[in-house]
Amino acid sequence: DPELAKIQKAFVDHGAVQCGFCSPGMILATCALLRENPNPTEAQIRRGLSGNLCRCTGYQAMVDAVESLIGGER
Ligand code: FES
Repeated sequence: DPELAKIQKAFVDHGAVQCGFCSPGMILATCALLRENPNPTEAQIRRGLSGNLCRCTGYQAMVDAVESLIGGER
């Protein structure tokens, strides 16, 4: 899935993957969020990812990764 590959790359490029335990859920949540809302606000991104807990990143890197996918070519 090329869309999924771009999300995975954005997570890696933004340091949003550390131990990787939460990464599959975060990446799939991002995919679902962006399919439903291609231009989410930061609050909507945080809400979209909120079903997954991460003990490593503090979430900002994930928000940055998702924001990097907005508005550009995905
Ligand atoms: S990267 Fe370790 S729990 Fe999220």
